[in-house]
Amino acid sequence: MKTKEDFIEKVLYSEEEISKRVKEIAAKVSADYKDIKKPLLVVGILNGAVMFYTDLVRRLSVPVHFDFLIASSYDANSHSSGKVNILKNIDNNPKDRDILLVEDIVDSGTTMDYLITYFKTKGAASVKICTLLNKPSRRKVEVDIDYCGFEVPDEFIVGYGLDFAQHYRNLPYLGVLKRSVYSK
Ligand code: IMP
Ligand code: MG
Repeated sequence: MKTKEDFIEKVLYSEEEISKRVKEIAAKVSADYKDIKKPLLVVGILNGAVMFYTDLVRRLSVPVHFDFLIASSYDANSHSSGKVNILKNIDNNPKDRDILLVEDIVDSGTTMDYLITYFKTKGAASVKICTLLNKPSRRKVEVDIDYCGFEVPDEFIVGYGLDFAQHYRNLPYLGVLKRSVYSK
């Protein structure tokens, strides 16, 4: 059996640190949307944002509707292709809705830039970004991030929903993947 030490370089944020930060973000989101008329349409970007999404929505005090989207801009070997496809769209009509996009990590910015424009074109009342992680050193497209959990260095991060080739999503913490795992 492989142990954590075989693939994790270091733990960046523990379960407790993540939980504390998620509560802080949820309080801020709840305050900002306290006067909304229709439920906030909280759109989770699958699969990476699942853990963050479920922890976040539990802490929101405003009415919400759940929705999910699958976008691809990333291939299995950790290089962004730069082109975004919507593989599974949301079920609700975005027109006149306040949308909160919940993402695991903003890296090049390509995915969020595309989705913001997409939902605005479809007539959303507002579109905001809530990301667990931000890796600004890798940005190719400028995006305004409304809520961010943690800023991370230019390392490959896994755990708490984030994967490397679909592995490690279920780790309860956020960790840096050892380079030896992906530079083989
Ligand atoms: P962007 O369009 O380049 O901003 O890519 C965002 C997507 O790339 C995220 O939703 C992740 O799925 C993936 N990604 C970027 N960096 C990492 C990382 O360090 N670990 C895991 N996934 C990542
Ligand atoms: Mg993703």
